[in-house]
Amino acid sequence: MSDDKLLNIGVCGVGTVGLAVIDIVNSQTAMLADRATCPVQLTHVGARREHVDHHYGDALVSRDVMDVARDPNVDVLVELIGGTTVAYDLIKLAIAEGKHVVTANKALIAEHGNELIALAETAGVQIRFEAAVAGGIPIIKVLRESLAANQITELAGIINGTGNFILTEMSTKGRAFDEVLAEAQALGYAEADPTFDIDGTDAAHKLVILSSLAFGIPLSIDAPVKQGINELTPADLEYAAALGYRVKHLGIARVSEAGVEMRVHPTLIPDNKQLASVDGVLNAVMVSGDAVGELVLVGPGAGGAATASSVCADVVDIARNMMGSGPALGVPATQLVAKPFIPAGDIASEWYVRLTAADRPGVMSDITHVLASHEISIESLVQKPPATGADEVPIILLTHLASESAMKVAMKEIMLLEEVHSEYALLRVEAFEH
Ligand code: HSE
Repeated sequence: MSDDKLLNIGVCGVGTVGLAVIDIVNSQTAMLADRATCPVQLTHVGARREHVDHHYGDALVSRDVMDVARDPNVDVLVELIGGTTVAYDLIKLAIAEGKHVVTANKALIAEHGNELIALAETAGVQIRFEAAVAGGIPIIKVLRESLAANQITELAGIINGTGNFILTEMSTKGRAFDEVLAEAQALGYAEADPTFDIDGTDAAHKLVILSSLAFGIPLSIDAPVKQGINELTPADLEYAAALGYRVKHLGIARVSEAGVEMRVHPTLIPDNKQLASVDGVLNAVMVSGDAVGELVLVGPGAGGAATASSVCADVVDIARNMMGSGPALGVPATQLVAKPFIPAGDIASEWYVRLTAADRPGVMSDITHVLASHEISIESLVQKPPATGADEVPIILLTHLASESAMKVAMKEIMLLEEVHSEYALLRVEAFEH
């Protein structure tokens, strides 16, 4: 780290992810400084071509990315070029120059990770690659740190965002493969050569990394059995749906006394299973540990900002480790900032209300009138038929957004209506759409 306690980073590669990393570093300066326990500064950018519309702030710009690895001011080299040629030479040089390394390059880690990690360990520098697997999902950290007390015997997941996006659009909207692939490329999800996304290579690279972390084995690039989504036809998706299944491209790894099994392939999943409903660019990784049981992490698997989120987290992690340890609450205790808490009564929700009322004309309109007088609008309303012999009916309604205090006052008034029983249920509805 620089003497003045700055963490200087050099970013090589200014594609979708590189630009998103630069944007976070330049726009979230104070937040990153608190979390890294020192300012994080973009010092040097390695961009092999000129891009007139790119702005890198005060950073030095080099056309030869090796200059970034040689720059004595750079503490952490962030490799976002991709591929296994220039990126390999660059990372080797950076390690030899005593730099820490962050990369999103799954092909490189799967193919050369054993060598690069050993070199980094010998050189006493850190190498991190959270963004290499499942984009914004922090699965590497979970396997490496959070599940350290578990024997992991199995993991499975949707680990290619482009492939999942294509399968989802084809199966839910009947869109054509080529058209959806072009959209995935335009959205920045696909690899530079999208063949890797559709023939299973990208998912296989990621499975190799996950398996190494989960089972404590060397990275073994040739281990996975590999089949891609390019072998599917729209008819397969339709027939599977008719049988009650969704087709997902899965990576699966298991370990037993007999050995390790690794495979990536399109798979029929019963449509009531959790993974079957992970759609679009989302990824999901399911891990089974002997102590924790089964857990599933779901989140964006590709895209500039989501992947940059993981890259920047690695940078912060490196800074924390350099300081000896990270702060227990994410930022130093002295930097915690108190914020006002919103009183429960002001927190708005949609609401479920269950009432019981006499089965008489006008009751419903009295109830809706009270709600309207508090500007609470009704989204849906159901009146159940009375039980045999009873003259009271359950009334169920869902409201649009309303504060708890408005809702409670309205309920109090509704309870004063002669035809309404005093017992009711009031529950918050959360559609997670905000
Ligand atoms: N092309 C990759 C994907 C990018 O679609 O999953 C994230 O690794």
